[in-house]
Amino acid sequence: MPQTKKTITVPELRARKGKTPIVCLTAYTMPMAKWLDAHVDLLLVGDSLGMVLYGMESTLGVTVEMMLAHTQAVMRGAEHACVITDLPFGSYQESPEAAYRTSARVLAETGAAGVKLEGGEEMAETVSFLTERGIPVLGHVGMMPQSVNAYGGFGARGKTQAEAKKILADGNAIAKAGAFAVVVEGTLEPVARELTARLSVPTIGIGASAACDGQILVSEDLLGLFSGFAPKFVKRYADLGAEVEKATAKYAADVRKRRFPGPEHCFGAKKQKR
Ligand code: KIV
Repeated sequence: MPQTKKTITVPELRARKGKTPIVCLTAYTMPMAKWLDAHVDLLLVGDSLGMVLYGMESTLGVTVEMMLAHTQAVMRGAEHACVITDLPFGSYQESPEAAYRTSARVLAETGAAGVKLEGGEEMAETVSFLTERGIPVLGHVGMMPQSVNAYGGFGARGKTQAEAKKILADGNAIAKAGAFAVVVEGTLEPVARELTARLSVPTIGIGASAACDGQILVSEDLLGLFSGFAPKFVKRYADLGAEVEKATAKYAADVRKRRFPGPEHCFGAKKQKR
């Protein structure tokens, strides 16, 4: 099929460093991807889907199969944005080879442009292994949700000098290893600012201040479709969850009062005499 619209590429995103902000959102389904596509540069099929769509307590239970199915759905709705998929917990940390096998499967079976993985210095060898073999990698440092058990919670990182130093070293290692950009999550502003100044690739912030080269949010958070945990860094642009409840209540009342379906919704219904 000839492409009618040009899709944003990984090198184009990489080249945006220090220029116009990179706009990113998560998408897990075809309709959401379609609604967001024209307005964003990057759609991330985040493993946050485990918490947002499946009601899990963390992202640790997300599987490669779930990521494949949701990325395939997103790819059917995205024409313009660059689609990147999260590698789920346990599918890449063991070795560069394991990461390659999972990433190759994700790219081959979905058509996504690259993968995202969490980790800093300890993942640098893996990032080199993937990028040297043609797999674009988006890094993720700062608060890394797959390490929630090690942290003991989802709180912000970079509060102590040791944490700040580690985040800077992590971001630097991942960028040097070939990542085309680095997500910086839940990190204090001065640390995110310093990291952004030091790296030659874009930083994409989530709870990491306006100093970053781009921003990402979980779409359900900004749309008011996720009623679970609401982090401080989320700005809610709509309250669609409340709209869903209102519409459902109206439907239920109509069915109970026999106001729905009306003759206009029926096949071959006789007009009622008034
Ligand atoms: O899983 C996810 O959605 C993410 C973003 C919040 C960055 O990692």
